[in-house]
Amino acid sequence: MLRIVLALISVATVMGEGCCPPDAWEGFEGLLAGSVQNGRTHLTKGGLMLHLNNTGKIIAIEEDLFVDDHEIKLKVIQDYNRGTEYMIIDGKCTKKTLEPWKPKCIPDDAQVVQNTYFGAGSATMAVKTYSFIDKGLQVYATATVNGCVPIVEAISGTTAEGVSTVDVVEFSGITPGIKDPSVFNIPSICNSVDIPFQYVPSLSRLRRSVFH
Ligand SMILES: *[C@@H]1O[C@H](CO)[C@@H](O)[C@H](O)[C@H]1NC(C)=O
Repeated sequence: MLRIVLALISVATVMGEGCCPPDAWEGFEGLLAGSVQNGRTHLTKGGLMLHLNNTGKIIAIEEDLFVDDHEIKLKVIQDYNRGTEYMIIDGKCTKKTLEPWKPKCIPDDAQVVQNTYFGAGSATMAVKTYSFIDKGLQVYATATVNGCVPIVEAISGTTAEGVSTVDVVEFSGITPGIKDPSVFNIPSICNSVDIPFQYVPSLSRLRRSVFH
């Protein structure tokens, strides 16, 4: 009985508790997002390959998305040392200024809403689900207890731009480290031209995750 009481107390009071994903990792992210903007509904689905070096403050994402059934392939490099995000799409490079770097961790004031596991019997993996508000949106993020490796994330609400959204992403095939650092190389087409980011206005909002 005492154990049950203690467990309940810890679920109610334990906060983000320093859950930070591995320093460098790669993996797949599946995405399904619905949104309503100016009365029009949009459905986005697809997959991303993520490459993150948190020490190096650089992230590369290869995306294959279907936005309302139109396929879009793009590559994004977020170089926080230069403070610039590069988006390469259709052989064109666009640039945007990044917000200052923030560690990709569950916020310290997040609440643990579930302390559970995936699998069954002897094949289980302990996970925690955290709840918090990020830029006005409700986030539920689940990560492994051992190592804070991302598993699934659901984000919902209305953005500052007035877009109502529900995003669900799931992570799989994650490996620690970076196999080929050349994924972070900025293509030479990004040095010459400086096309404003408005070329693809909606795409920057399609990647919302506390983990990257
Ligand atoms: C991450 O970047 C840092 C700084 O550039 C570098 O020292 C480190 O080797 C990189 N890590 C991986 C796994 O590539």
